[in-house]
Amino acid sequence: MSLTDKTILLIIGGGVAAYKALELSRRLMDKGARVRTVLTKGGAEFITPLSCASLTGEQCFTELFDLKDEAEMGHIRLSREADLVLVAPATADLMAKMAAGLANDLASTVLLATDKPVMVAPAMNAEMWAHPATQRNLKTLEADGIHRIEPGSGMLACGEFGPGRLAEVPDIVAAVEGFFSPHARPLAGKHIVVTAGPTYEAIDPVRYIANRSSGRQGFAIAGALAGLGARVSLIAGPVALDTPPGVERIDVESARDMAAAVDAALPADAAICVAAVADWRTDGCAEKKLKKSVDGLPNLTLTENPDILKGLAGRKDGRPTLVVGFAAETNDIVDHATAKRARKGCDWIVANDVSVGDDGAGVMGGDDNRVHIITDTGVESWEAMLKTQVAGRLAARIAEALA
Ligand code: CTP
Repeated sequence: MSLTDKTILLIIGGGVAAYKALELSRRLMDKGARVRTVLTKGGAEFITPLSCASLTGEQCFTELFDLKDEAEMGHIRLSREADLVLVAPATADLMAKMAAGLANDLASTVLLATDKPVMVAPAMNAEMWAHPATQRNLKTLEADGIHRIEPGSGMLACGEFGPGRLAEVPDIVAAVEGFFSPHARPLAGKHIVVTAGPTYEAIDPVRYIANRSSGRQGFAIAGALAGLGARVSLIAGPVALDTPPGVERIDVESARDMAAAVDAALPADAAICVAAVADWRTDGCAEKKLKKSVDGLPNLTLTENPDILKGLAGRKDGRPTLVVGFAAETNDIVDHATAKRARKGCDWIVANDVSVGDDGAGVMGGDDNRVHIITDTGVESWEAMLKTQVAGRLAARIAEALA
């Protein structure tokens, strides 16, 4: 009963996912919480005040100017008697109001009046989520200290596919529990940028240069960091992987796209560059598909790509406190990686052995990874373990370093 003695004011916005708020209220109560609900006008189009009241055993509040509520409670008291104000689903509209400081209904007034921590679980159509206005509002809310439970990605109620799905109820409950148990979330309040996967460098509209990176190690690290409470921006090259829970994913294709996305995601407390960024791109992508019957053997000239890791490590302004690079090596691993650390100016290099061992461990794209962590104090060699285990250990080390 991790939420015993906690009162959660659940503000239910107007979205299809409002029905999940009913399940959420019960699961929070299972953990011992007292749950009070505020239902917006939009929310009441999807679920009723009666269902909220029946499930929570508490009056559900809907109207700002309901005199009875004002006399008995008042919106100020309502917001202050909670230990946490949780907005789920948080619609684009409600978050825009929060970002602008509007107070024109009970939910927005409570959110403006509260002196308690606020957590939002956004849910909306993928285009609305990606819209610059929503992204701008999210940044404002973050700067205002509002906690966010990242939406999931997948099939949305509107029939479209992409990010914007309300986080799963158990993930929201876990985020609330984690919020009240800071030891379980040593990275709460930290923002970490992770790059992962390969990059594709176009030769023409159908051909590209790529590499064998699966993205699995980077995705596992992003998930492990989010699990410790960090807000994680995962800049992902083309991979066939699900987004880890609680992680904000930005899909990119080329090294230059990745560099721009990393820049846009800053400021960050740490940057973990796991991506196998292509070192070179072709000098200009052909506008039309190259035809061997017409063009013959292509003459590909290569140009160097921006080095994202080196750029981050060398930033004069806004350098993340901890910059970590990865180095895939087949021989003289520690020597090469130590030289790479100095060359790139990063704080740590995680060298992974991509030579093929007897057991197959270390092959790029495999399940296992055998790593050496090179820092300013020396080298730490870890035994071969699953990529998810490497991710867990590394996330814990990062939490220590940022503490
Ligand atoms: N990296 C990057 N941007 C690039 C190239 C690499 O951010 N354009 C990062 C990778 O994410 C990784 C590290 O730098 O963290 C790998 O360094 P790199 O010099 O690319 O390694 P190798 O390709 O293994 O270098 P070398 O060919 O010299 O062994």
